[in-house]
Amino acid sequence: MLSVEKIANGTVIDHIKAGKGLRVLQILNIQVDYPGRVALLMNTTSGKMGKKDIVKIAEKHIDDKSADKIALIAPEASLNIIKNYEVIEKRQVKLRNKLVGVAACPNPNCITNHERMESEFKVEEKGIRCSFCERLFKPEDLSA
Ligand code: CTP
Ligand code: ZN
Repeated sequence: MLSVEKIANGTVIDHIKAGKGLRVLQILNIQVDYPGRVALLMNTTSGKMGKKDIVKIAEKHIDDKSADKIALIAPEASLNIIKNYEVIEKRQVKLRNKLVGVAACPNPNCITNHERMESEFKVEEKGIRCSFCERLFKPEDLSA
């Protein structure tokens, strides 16, 4: 198995659905200028899930809004908070039925893109619906 060293401080996002790890990095806005160490493991084998992705990000704290967004594409993901090489907290992301202020509405004509106001989406079976323009989007359409 491909192994990656443990991180000293930061966050490990484990149990990401295989293929979604890169998208998780995008949601967290991790780009070439990120100063810390980052590891993306794709298609790691997992007892429970078959294949999974893992993302390790040194020196990164993940806020609740980002965690809610990760849940949209990787509902089984777990966040492991690492301090001094130890997992000091482990929590499961949670798919909320309402998302407030996590991403701009992809509809350029939506009022939320023209007024100083927070976006709001409802999570439905078929996708994510803007509470204002009522358009339905795929989770992947919501930009980071
Ligand atoms: N990890 C890490 N650096 C550390 C500590 C842990 O990169 N200093 C990683 C581990 O490699 C693992 C994840 O964080 O991918 C969770 O660690 P741990 O809770 O120790 O592993 P498990 O018990 O296997 O996790 P779970 O029960 O959630 O599957
Ligand atoms: Zn809208």
